[in-house]
Amino acid sequence: MASKHAWYQTAIFYEVHIRAYMDGNGDGHGDLAGLTQKLDYIKDLGVDCIWILPHYPSPLKDDGYDISDYYGIHPDYGNLDDFKALVEAVHARGLKIVVDLVMNHTSDRHEWFRQSRSSRDSPYRDYYVWSDTDERYQEARIIFLDTEPSNWSWDEGSGQYYWHRFYASQPDLNYDNPAVEAEMFRVAEFWLELGVDGFRADAVPYLYEREGTNCENLPETHAFLQRLRKFMDERYPGRIILSEANQWPEDVRPYFADGNEVHMNFHFPLMPRVFMALKSGDIRPVVEILERTPEIPENCQWCTFLRNHDELTLEMVIPEEREWMWAEYAPEPRMRLNLGIRRRLAPLLDNDKRKILLAFSLLMTLPGTPVLYYGDEIGMGDNIWLRDRDGVRTPMQWDSTPHAGFSAGPAESLYAPVIDDPVYGYRRVNVADQIDDPDSTFSLVRQMIARRKSVTALGKGSFEWAANTGNPALAAFWRSLGDQKVLVVHNLIGQVQSASISIPEGVSGRLVEIFTAKEYPRLQDNMLQLTLAPYQYHWLESR
Ligand code: NOJ
Repeated sequence: MASKHAWYQTAIFYEVHIRAYMDGNGDGHGDLAGLTQKLDYIKDLGVDCIWILPHYPSPLKDDGYDISDYYGIHPDYGNLDDFKALVEAVHARGLKIVVDLVMNHTSDRHEWFRQSRSSRDSPYRDYYVWSDTDERYQEARIIFLDTEPSNWSWDEGSGQYYWHRFYASQPDLNYDNPAVEAEMFRVAEFWLELGVDGFRADAVPYLYEREGTNCENLPETHAFLQRLRKFMDERYPGRIILSEANQWPEDVRPYFADGNEVHMNFHFPLMPRVFMALKSGDIRPVVEILERTPEIPENCQWCTFLRNHDELTLEMVIPEEREWMWAEYAPEPRMRLNLGIRRRLAPLLDNDKRKILLAFSLLMTLPGTPVLYYGDEIGMGDNIWLRDRDGVRTPMQWDSTPHAGFSAGPAESLYAPVIDDPVYGYRRVNVADQIDDPDSTFSLVRQMIARRKSVTALGKGSFEWAANTGNPALAAFWRSLGDQKVLVVHNLIGQVQSASISIPEGVSGRLVEIFTAKEYPRLQDNMLQLTLAPYQYHWLESR
């Protein structure tokens, strides 16, 4: 009997940048109406839940992660009616939608901050963290290392410093002020009332500050999140919090608490280790980080991902590994940003379809709920010459017509140039060409998603490395749920490999490859013998 599971434990998530996805009104910016038009595509890919990047009014100093009004829609994206129409269309297709909720900070253009900085006596002064000195909280690291010299910035008008963990234009809210918490609950309620299925909670480790700590993952932060969870469970059961805590597994574990804090956490340290394994042909970094990953409560789930809208972060590796990753994956200095790499999946993997699919297979079969980043399903490229992280946020490539079918507006109006180089340009890489080609990256990813969803063990099953020859270039593991047992085997290198895998007791029946329906015989002593082509993977189910 399969055990019970919640929708988010077996779902496929898809991250969409509204500005980049589809321009519905020809002004050169993607918008809610455009995204709504493309829901059938998303559904067809096999996605269950869409996560949209911040949709709020914002001066866009951090592409929307600097919110100037929590209750509105960025005018480039449409209005609240468009938002309601999107939510309705999402639900009509049986999909779900999670929105970004940026609680740690606002834009410096937010009315609260305008008021706060207007005078030390303002009733909003305590909405933010002010100080006479920039010497407080010295143990807190700087996150945007390339641009920010300090977490404090001087406010000339009111003669004090204000605290910000990200850009100086993103002042941190002061969660020691109960009024701020009350405001944030109102914000959450507003969007939950509009029908969103949950929040991707941005930058949660940094909500509180305490002297003598690194100001991350504080007990006060957990208590706050548990209050938010309780509020959501009571009023909006089934809606989720997916938190962004870019931390080591043992520091992320408390965000699940006893199953009463957040539902999901990204597994940040796993991500770079998948890339290490793919480049070195050695799965051991992945083995080590999974060994270091604590068990989580039954109602919780990790989110796994290969790429997202930020740089491929190397915060969760040691300095030597970071240097190695930069040398291997970011040989050109422009490819580096802060402690990471601003490149997309296909260019990172040499645009080699075998490696791209191998990476997707790891994503679909390692423990956790996969989060795909828009465009990676067709192997889109990047533009490292754009500023900040914009190079991985270029327009979605729908077809080979001008502007990749993304916008009917004039070229000058586009928020960013469409990729148009000979390898990754929209004439070569686009949805229209791939959708009916059974061998395209899109079709193979779609097929993989469908197979993954047909095997519940891949979503919620237990995980165990397979006993094999001890060859680290083979990543082989079992996923099991009740009677369902699946053996997944990946060849990480560019040479043919043979694998001898012993089949544990308790795995009965025939072993059938899920993609090819080929049956693999058990040999003497319950051994299984496989030959894998370069970068090939097999998913074998016992039937
Ligand atoms: C994490 C987001 O993913 C990133 O894009 C943003 O710049 C920071 N949080 C600050 O909100």
